[in-house]
Amino acid sequence: MSEAKKPVLGGTAKSDYENYVRTDELLSLQKSPSEWEHRDELLFAVVHQSSELWLKLAISELTEATDYLKKNDIRGALRLFDRIAICMRQCHEALDMLEKMSPWDYQQVRRALGHGSGFDSPGFNGLRKGVPGLGKEFHRLLGEANIDLLTLYLNDRKYEDLYLLAEALTELDERIYLWRHRHYKVVERSIGAKVSGTQGTPVEILSKLNSFTFFPEIWDIRTTITNHALAEEAKKSAY
Ligand code: HEM
Repeated sequence: MSEAKKPVLGGTAKSDYENYVRTDELLSLQKSPSEWEHRDELLFAVVHQSSELWLKLAISELTEATDYLKKNDIRGALRLFDRIAICMRQCHEALDMLEKMSPWDYQQVRRALGHGSGFDSPGFNGLRKGVPGLGKEFHRLLGEANIDLLTLYLNDRKYEDLYLLAEALTELDERIYLWRHRHYKVVERSIGAKVSGTQGTPVEILSKLNSFTFFPEIWDIRTTITNHALAEEAKKSAY
């Protein structure tokens, strides 16, 4: 083996790629074929485990973005928002793979899941806990600038950074919302809409969660803006 190929990092693997990525540990985190109830357990595990990893990264970026906002560094936070959105997109795309599993095959996989439920996803629960903190900092910054949401949106260039932050929050909210909708369709396509999940939760509950949004106020402001424009037009035509 040439000098340049010899591992120099600590670890037991035969190359530094494997030592660094920890491929031995990573690739042993999925059941082996002899342990499978059904061969699609590998597909199911890969989609879930990779989603948890992307969500782990999202939470890490989100935590740091919140810290930037606490220090009034909006631009520092904005860079990280893009990363969080990409993490959500990766989770969204990964759901496609689950629809390549037939509904009957999923019933065989389901036998291996015990009472496992997405409600206990550390990644998604971390998002649920962390995202409101971003909104809290945004509203504090609005307060410090002495403006409300309507003033911000009517004077977006004047308050460029705050406006970009408001739109980044909207984008994040939308991405999580889109993931939820996509997940709901995957569930409906796999097990149906009128049954219960592995922890006994009726799938109808999921459809109710579809309308959830972290920041209703930054969605409602669009309605306020439209009404504001209509009121201005009405005023003009009254003259
Ligand atoms: C065939 C694939 C899937 C099926 C059939 C499925 C099914 C379900 C069901 C029935 C629920 C309601 C709670 C329960 O009773 O378990 C649920 C919730 C949930 N699942 Fe899945 N799921 C699938 C894939 C995924 C994937 C890949 C993720 C990625 C992390 C995920 C994350 C979640 C989360 C976070 C919830 C809570 C929903 C919320 O708070 O809106 N699921 N899933």
